[in-house]
Amino acid sequence: MKIVIIGGTGLIGSKTVAILRQSGHEVVAASPSSGVNTITGEGVKGAVAGAQVVIDLANSPSFEDKTVLEFFETSGRNLLAAEAATGVGHHVALSIVAIDRTDNGYFRAKVAQEKLIEASGIPYTIIRATQFMEFLRGIADSSADGNIVRLPPILFQPIAADDVAAIVAEVALAAPRGGIVEIAGPERAPFNEIVARYLKAVGDSRAVVRDPEARYFGGRVEERSLVPLGEARLGRIDLDEWLRRSQSKA
Ligand SMILES: NC(=O)c1ccc[n+]([C@@H]2O[C@H](COP(=O)([O-])OP(=O)(O)OC[C@H]3O[C@@H](n4cnc5c(N)ncnc54)[C@H](OP(=O)(O)O)[C@@H]3O)[C@@H](O)[C@H]2O)c1
Repeated sequence: MKIVIIGGTGLIGSKTVAILRQSGHEVVAASPSSGVNTITGEGVKGAVAGAQVVIDLANSPSFEDKTVLEFFETSGRNLLAAEAATGVGHHVALSIVAIDRTDNGYFRAKVAQEKLIEASGIPYTIIRATQFMEFLRGIADSSADGNIVRLPPILFQPIAADDVAAIVAEVALAAPRGGIVEIAGPERAPFNEIVARYLKAVGDSRAVVRDPEARYFGGRVEERSLVPLGEARLGRIDLDEWLRRSQSKA
């Protein structure tokens, strides 16, 4: 089966490409560096022609509110139009848990991406994941003021990129759900505690302060603002195992 992975050079994209190639599929790892650009439209129609499945794992180079919204809207429109024109049978996209009930600029852009998919008429599956463990450093940096990292004690359930890629590959090979599948890591704990464990394990001396008023990328958050409310498929890799694996690679 021909499967095109938009963002096939990224964190989740490169892992998903490897898994699907190993199971014998013809996989195109598409990205601007290989001449496929969903913003300009360059190479998109040619890349998706003849594909049964397209997996959208692209991400915006900038997370600034207006830029990220424009990225997911333009990229989604161009990609879905090419898929409709070439008769793609399954569009898979990776989104984020709670984007429609927790507010920040990046989440608003992902809501816009999901709406385009739902309105496209192309059979689809949207996978909403919790935050990647690989994103813990980015979260700490965005919540830091000098040597202090302020985080609210809300529930947090990060998932490892290896688990995300395995589930994305499995979903891509199954029939389109015409809806959303939620996925999360195996362990749920207070946000500040998980980030503190991560920083300690990687030898980052910044102190994590529990601050119920601290925001998440500028938005207010409550106890369940970042975790699945209903049933979610759980990954296998917990934080300790992920830290062991990352440290053995380093
Ligand atoms: N971070 C999280 O915690 C989290 C949680 C849930 C869901 N997600 C979602 O997961 C998805 C994948 O994230 P990631 O961290 O794996 O991304 P990433 O590592 O930043 O990779 C982004 C990919 O997008 C490609 N790309 C950038 N601009 C493009 C364009 N104009 N046309 C085509 N491809 C383009 C990049 O190609 P180049 O290498 O050529 O630049 C790269 O392959 C995103 O949609 C994100 O919203 C993230």
